Amino acid sequence: MTRYDKDRAMITHEEEPFNAESPPKMLNQNFLTDNNFFFSRNHGSIPNVDETNYRLKVDGMVDTPLELSMQDLREFPKREIIAVMQCAGNRREGLMEIAEIPGETPWGAGAIGNAGWAGVSLREVLLAAGIQDGARHAAFLGLDEVEGDGGDLNYGGSIPVGKALAPETLLAYEMNDEILPIEHGFPLRIVAPGYYGARSVKWLSRITLQEQPSDNHFQVNEYKLFAPGVTAETEGSHEGLMLGEMQVNAVICTPQDGASTESGRTSVRGYAVAGGGRRVERVDVSSDDGKSWIQAELLQGVDEPWAWTFWETDLYLTLGEHRIVARAVDSSAATQPSTAAEVWNFKGYANNSWHGVRVEVG
Ligand code: MTE
Repeated sequence: MTRYDKDRAMITHEEEPFNAESPPKMLNQNFLTDNNFFFSRNHGSIPNVDETNYRLKVDGMVDTPLELSMQDLREFPKREIIAVMQCAGNRREGLMEIAEIPGETPWGAGAIGNAGWAGVSLREVLLAAGIQDGARHAAFLGLDEVEGDGGDLNYGGSIPVGKALAPETLLAYEMNDEILPIEHGFPLRIVAPGYYGARSVKWLSRITLQEQPSDNHFQVNEYKLFAPGVTAETEGSHEGLMLGEMQVNAVICTPQDGASTESGRTSVRGYAVAGGGRRVERVDVSSDDGKSWIQAELLQGVDEPWAWTFWETDLYLTLGEHRIVARAVDSSAATQPSTAAEVWNFKGYANNSWHGVRVEVG
């Protein structure tokens, strides 16, 4: 085990702040990703929160501002949901092959995991506070101190009020039947299923209902999708799309990139996600870089709107080097762009181009 009880096989990009991902071949072993394999994405030091003194503030455009202890929160009905957490930087490595992305973590395809979360419905807490007319966004603030915008600040972000009131959005205090681990936000975090992980604020201290999205650095300057021509020098915070719902994405977990296999039948397996509650309808796999495709079998997760879907197919490979690629189609009929060049952006977010691995058949 390494820090925070993470498995030794985890790929640690940084010890401080702690940033580690799972090797893809570990990801498709269990439908629910073990807590000790689960990626962890942190912008600052992980705070040690004392549960006894912890209070969650609910304020802004509410009738009755609240201050809730964990005991108060546990008195609300307990809700459970299986949901994927995926960093918007998942697969940034593929974008870095196109052009440099300085200062950002080179995540492979393991900045993602699927967990059973339990906690309180955010909706019920907001209804208890009373939502005033005109409230459009729920802004969240974490207890961690991070660097950004030329100083220290608390990590934060927001989601539209419609998503905050949706039945799937949780204030989670458990992850895979364990108390929420410290690096995943103990004692309480947001889980906004179907959204990129950035909005699922950990070590949550405050929820503010307001007219505008959060003005936190991580909402207005980071976690935005900028046009391909925008760079760090030209970027203005008015530009760019604030990331919310995830896009459809499929990843090959086995074989791994660079693997050698024997000719004949090769099993290809992986995960696929569709954001915003859409379903993964189909996964296509190609062994000739997209000239021809076969349809994979969807194994698990098809009926879980917020979870990932596991898929598998067999390919019959001839001698030589092959590039196997996969792409998914979601229930809105959206599919994935073929190349990373098409989706390159200077922050390196939301790479959902076809995922490929090279295998040598000997
Ligand atoms: N919340 C706080 N307070 N601080 C953070 O650095 N990182 C965000 C989000 N919530 C972050 C945060 C990002 S970018 C992601 S992808 C997810 O947490 C990662 O969640 P995990 O570490 O539990 O996997």
